[in-house]
Amino acid sequence: MTNRISIIVDTDPGVDDFFCIALACAYPELFDVKAICTIGGNNATDVTTRNALNILKLLRREDIPVARGADSYLMEEFDEPVEQFHGRNGLGNVEIPETEKTADPLSACEKIYQVAKECGGELVIVTVGPETNLALAFSRYPDLPSLVKKIVVMGGTTDKGNVTEYAEANIWHDAPAARIVFESGVPVDMIGLNVTRQAPLRQEIFDGITEVCGDVKEVMSKLIDFRNQEAMHDSIAFACLLNDEIFTWLGAYTYVIADHSEHHGQTVVEEKEPHNSRVAVGIDTEAYYRVMKDMISRYTE
Ligand code: RIB
Ligand code: CA
Repeated sequence: MTNRISIIVDTDPGVDDFFCIALACAYPELFDVKAICTIGGNNATDVTTRNALNILKLLRREDIPVARGADSYLMEEFDEPVEQFHGRNGLGNVEIPETEKTADPLSACEKIYQVAKECGGELVIVTVGPETNLALAFSRYPDLPSLVKKIVVMGGTTDKGNVTEYAEANIWHDAPAARIVFESGVPVDMIGLNVTRQAPLRQEIFDGITEVCGDVKEVMSKLIDFRNQEAMHDSIAFACLLNDEIFTWLGAYTYVIADHSEHHGQTVVEEKEPHNSRVAVGIDTEAYYRVMKDMISRYTE
């Protein structure tokens, strides 16, 4: 298969991370998923790593390596698990079968660099958790920015945050890391709460889909219920790789405030040159739902 997009998904699974990983895994003809890298955020890194391995088993994609990420943020320890949105186990208290597989011998930071070198400038990184692994990799390997084509970020917002008035969770958890990523020189596509909140995922997404695997559908359906049919943010970000026109984009210079002030974790989006980012400012929700329906219909027995 030629012309596939080489990708790494850096994630803290995570109820909505599940749907992002499901999108990445459903299109082997389009995406060469080189690794899933894990990080703490929604739960501790041990738990999110286990979840990533188990999710790949459920999705019949155990060919994809999982590289375990950092055990703390750049300058702070992890917080408590975010039980309200991700349950005690990070997956909405939904139990999925355990795999025998274990994580790759390389750490997430090492894996990112190894894969980036192999891909010769074509690697796309999708980051849907705190950006600690990427920031560590940029700090450790100064040539890394020249080896990465694009970073797709689920994070930030141009309006109200979900942790504070100004900050979205992935950015707020490790604002110094997010700052490094936005200022790395690699083009960033930022998909924030300002658009993801507009596209809640409801049980109706299964309407008209008859052939889907029972176990995959059951887990997806329970996750949607757990989140009370709210948005699955991380899948919305990934969807831009399947249809760029889902979003209206604004070319911008974006930076992250990391000063422990009231604005800590805010993404400041300025319409000025040089642009370091494209920021999603509008969403075609129906187009996103079409992407999700197509993805679900690919998980057949
Ligand atoms: O703010 C939403 C983001 O925070 C999502 O990535 C979710 O999984 C949590 O990590
Ligand atoms: Ca996430």
